[in-house]
Amino acid sequence: MTEQHFIPKNLPETRPNGQIVWESPSNIALIKYWGKRENQIPENPSISFTLNHCKTITTLSYKAKETHDTFSFDVFLDGEKIDDFKPKIQTFFERIEVYLPFLKDYHFIIETKNTFPHSSGIASSASGMSALALCLMSVEKQIIELNVIQNESDEAHKYFNQKASFLARLGSGSACRSIEGDLIVWGENKIVDGSSNLFGTKYPYPVHDIFKDYQDTILLVDKGEKQVSSTVGHNLMHNHPYAQNRFQQAHDNLEKMKMILESGDLDAFIGLVESEALTLHAMMMTSMPYFILMKPNTLKVIHAIWDFRKKTGVPVSFTLDAGANVHVLYPKRDAVPVLEFINKELVAYCQNEHFICDQIGQGANQL
Ligand code: DP6
Repeated sequence: MTEQHFIPKNLPETRPNGQIVWESPSNIALIKYWGKRENQIPENPSISFTLNHCKTITTLSYKAKETHDTFSFDVFLDGEKIDDFKPKIQTFFERIEVYLPFLKDYHFIIETKNTFPHSSGIASSASGMSALALCLMSVEKQIIELNVIQNESDEAHKYFNQKASFLARLGSGSACRSIEGDLIVWGENKIVDGSSNLFGTKYPYPVHDIFKDYQDTILLVDKGEKQVSSTVGHNLMHNHPYAQNRFQQAHDNLEKMKMILESGDLDAFIGLVESEALTLHAMMMTSMPYFILMKPNTLKVIHAIWDFRKKTGVPVSFTLDAGANVHVLYPKRDAVPVLEFINKELVAYCQNEHFICDQIGQGANQL
């Protein structure tokens, strides 16, 4: 499949006005996307758990306008007009216009809010971009459906989700993994049938019950602004001395992950996920320029998790994104001792003792 698949043919002239609301979750990668080519094509495959509680809720109001020469939109966060977001959305619209040729026919009002605090250091780009992509897909669907019979077939549903993921990717790579749940693969590879660089796909193989209700408690170690934007970070993989080995490693790790997901081997899961997190940070530390995005408290948390695991045998592990916050991953059946441990030993390392309890989820919903 190529990008052409998502360019609508003979889109009708009708431009209905309306309003649509979608909520879309964040996701946490187990095998990390780090490094991309032009047009948001990932250098390696990644796989993530879709989250359940950390979400963006976006209301998109659309009104047909007379002129068709520029994009026209306003953005509100928590009811407040935020012009700072406009350049990112302008770029997003420019990238996706060929796939949504009606964009310049409308004035859009984008009202967005997150279920997690804006200043929490949790990236809202995955949930935010996927929510907006879904809203825009609903507009496309409405334009088409006013003119042809309603199409609720599996094929139409699949196209809707695939194109939403495709568009979300053009906003932010990891956003393409937030449309559906509960395990999503993105990036072409030989291990997962149907995998694509263009959009995320549901992981299609057997998954052990232990992973069905996996928990992710996010420790907000540092709520500050990102030191380095992810796009700048990804670009540092160009000419990175370890890049090719890293990209190959992600393929190898995906193959290992497939066996782990089926068998439920938690020791192997822990080893793979923690190694992926530290490899991501190792790539940043060995870029030129180089970055250390962990904070002293990130390391304290990691060591405390290792000590606790050794002492108790509870299969708790961590992963990291491109920042200092720690995602604590564990099976639901171990939630009582792990939460007790977090409350007793780890909250001290969180800014204002702040952490967020989340778990694996099923993807976005239209409200
Ligand atoms: C470290 O998706 O934020 O979280 O495509 O530039 O928007 P852009 O990058 P982004 O990168 C996220 C990278 C990561 C790992 C991951 O989620 O796979």
